[in-house]
Amino acid sequence: MKPLLCVLTTKEPLAIPPVWLMRQAGRYMPVYRALREKVGSFWGMAFNPAHAAEITLQPIRAFQMDAAILFSDILTIPHAMGCTVEFKAGEGPEVEKYVSGQTLLSAADQNFCETLEPVFEAMRETRRKLAAEKFDNVALIGFSGAPWTLACYMLCGNGHDKNFTAAQNFAKNHPQEFTALIDKLTDAVIWYLKEQIKAGAEAVQLFDSWAGIVPRESFNAYITTPAQKIVASLKAEFPEVPVIGFPRGAATNYEAYARTTKVDGLGVDESADITKLDVSCVLQGNLSPEVLLGDEAVQDKKIKEILEKMRGRPYIFNLGHGVIKETDEARVQRLVDTVRQKL
Ligand code: CP3
Repeated sequence: MKPLLCVLTTKEPLAIPPVWLMRQAGRYMPVYRALREKVGSFWGMAFNPAHAAEITLQPIRAFQMDAAILFSDILTIPHAMGCTVEFKAGEGPEVEKYVSGQTLLSAADQNFCETLEPVFEAMRETRRKLAAEKFDNVALIGFSGAPWTLACYMLCGNGHDKNFTAAQNFAKNHPQEFTALIDKLTDAVIWYLKEQIKAGAEAVQLFDSWAGIVPRESFNAYITTPAQKIVASLKAEFPEVPVIGFPRGAATNYEAYARTTKVDGLGVDESADITKLDVSCVLQGNLSPEVLLGDEAVQDKKIKEILEKMRGRPYIFNLGHGVIKETDEARVQRLVDTVRQKL
């Protein structure tokens, strides 16, 4: 069985943990930048199945990762719902802000499904390419943003602050409408991930990038309960497909999140003390992406420390957050070689 799926399914450690990196395809790779320049727009790549599949394969060919994550973005769902998203070169995403009372599209609307169809075609095309290029041990990961993180972008529109204050205020001031929005997003995420699985995703990851800013008393309502519903619905239809939850910055809430949602894998950011997490699922991540920008010897040391800490526990090597765009490709290769004990 493919190493990534083996660990997630059996929850048994492998002597050499599987390795892949969040944002492993992207701007730190010159081949990606060249295509980005040629195509001219982010959606022109992400919603083009041939380009998206090609970009997904780039880090696999370059670094022999154990998993490919479909090249796309978490903001496809808000975009398909009607909060149009634009990516301008060198800047963050520009999201058309949700207006109170606005009707959002859902999987019951043809336009919503049609907007997202190229993502599923990209998944099918990526499976074909992985097979054609004989990457028989590479697992294909699908993903979605989690409801809270997607709501953050929709409720803040352009120019959010680091705490997405406008989203937090909306939740407080319009509790019913906020709950309805989270429910609507939960349904959309369930549909989206199921379609990705039907198209060939062998595991899925739920990115809750802004879980860390949620006040303690709201963590269950905004983060854990929606994730629990998503996992339960996926498991009811696809019990064999592993689900990785990544409530970034969850701190003291990581354990309860893992227990309640029943995820197979738990992505952890760099601030978590991975040795102290008492969970029965597989752990993933924890290396700070900044380490790849600093001293090479320190990088080697930090990787070996994590490997040592996780020896005998089911673990997937990854970063605590996405690869930073200034990262040198040679450092990514070095990371993979260190994990595989070739250095
Ligand atoms: O991991 C992968 O290699 C798969 C592709 C992927 C992208 N975005 C490609 C991308 C994935 C899994 C994401 C997830 C994503 N997108 C998250 C969750 C993970 C995280 O980083 O917390 C979030 C919050 C977003 C939203 C988003 N998309 C932002 C804030 C930005 C701009 C800033 C940035 O960090 O790049 C994007 C754009 C984006 N998504 C790029 C890529 C390669 C860069 C676009 C470009 O070429 O200009």
